[in-house]
Amino acid sequence: MTDVTTGIHDLSLATAHYVLDQTTLARELGIDDAKLKDGLGQDAMSVPAADEDIVTMAATAARPIIDRHGADRVRTVLLATETGVDQSKSAGLYVHGLLGLPHTCRVVELKQACYSATAALQFATALIARDPEQHVLVVASDIAKYKRGSAAEPTQGAAALAMLVTADPAILRVEPSSGMHSEDIMDFWRPNYRAEAVVDGKFSIDAYQRAVVSAFADYRERGGRDLAEFAAFCYHQPFTKMAVKAHRHLLDHLGVTAGPADLHAAVNASTHYNRVLGNSYAASAYVGLASLLDHRDDLADQPIAIVSYGSGSVAEFLGATVVPGYRDHLRSVENAAAIDQRKTVDYTRYCELHDACTPPDGGHHPNPQETTAPFRLAAISQHKRLYEAVA
Ligand code: COA
Repeated sequence: MTDVTTGIHDLSLATAHYVLDQTTLARELGIDDAKLKDGLGQDAMSVPAADEDIVTMAATAARPIIDRHGADRVRTVLLATETGVDQSKSAGLYVHGLLGLPHTCRVVELKQACYSATAALQFATALIARDPEQHVLVVASDIAKYKRGSAAEPTQGAAALAMLVTADPAILRVEPSSGMHSEDIMDFWRPNYRAEAVVDGKFSIDAYQRAVVSAFADYRERGGRDLAEFAAFCYHQPFTKMAVKAHRHLLDHLGVTAGPADLHAAVNASTHYNRVLGNSYAASAYVGLASLLDHRDDLADQPIAIVSYGSGSVAEFLGATVVPGYRDHLRSVENAAAIDQRKTVDYTRYCELHDACTPPDGGHHPNPQETTAPFRLAAISQHKRLYEAVA
């Protein structure tokens, strides 16, 4: 194994066609919108159109990366999701086909609730350490969906975040030390027969906080940095207030006194995108990373922490260093455009989209064109998902 620096060379955000604002949802649910905006830290959520899914979002996020760097050196595609479209075939293969990636490539899907993109990033760095010439495309793509009328409904959302992982990266160097915590618990899960997750919300918040403390302790034992060295933190954000809660909990555990201004400085820049996209499960911490890099301008050579949590549960505390000159490689304008160009969906259409079921009968079920994204799910026919590139 060669001693190479590996990390994120490019990253790109995509989301769904529609947006539902929390004021509309609060009015329909008969609750105070301050609870959603201030209590949960969510202003809006992305809502996929009928011809969108995790594959169309993933391909949309990844395409600009392939356009910029080419496909020749991509030897592996890792698709991280917990809302997969097939029990057998990797969603990454549809993305591989839509992007015209080389056949000389391995493609696999990874699942562990909201954690799996961090596993993908770690696996990618290991592959590159063995062969520094190769590029690994990591795409996290998820649609967070809960029962309508449940406490979790306001924390729904959808997004994909694609990263090109390479040797000598232009944006973020992933450091070798990381800390882990795994534990078999039932805080959030989705049985195969359900379209919506089952969640014990309050338990999941406690489990998340406990796992972060444990993962950080492991990180320190393995030679990781002191917490005070980090310039900023990208926490998994099922709702953005969770980043504040988790950081405050970690600081309390370490006996560090911190006021609201300290918490704001540590996590706020990472929350701008998630606040308006909603939960994007596996993508969430990395959407947080994109938000941080796009909104803070003083991070060159600074250490930052990625704090990943996936219910069930696995957590990882990961150190990284921002590469000088990184701003020249960001997609801040495009990321903001992906969010701003969403169309407002009214409550009735939101309910229809939310409640729609995948037809199980093997018939031909075309989708009317609704999305303006470059890729769409044109139909499900004879149990096959038929995607098309439209732009
Ligand atoms: N104005 C401002 N804030 C308000 C408010 C109001 N009118 N009413 C309530 N709040 C605050 C509460 O004080 C609470 O904040 P706190 O936790 O900082 O005290 C927050 O809003 C949430 O309200 P609460 O009643 O405690 O919870 P809930 O029943 O709405 O459920 C979740 C919240 C997160 C448990 C629920 O959305 C859920 O299950 N989400 C999915 C699972 C999840 O995201 N888990 C996280 C770990 S992965």
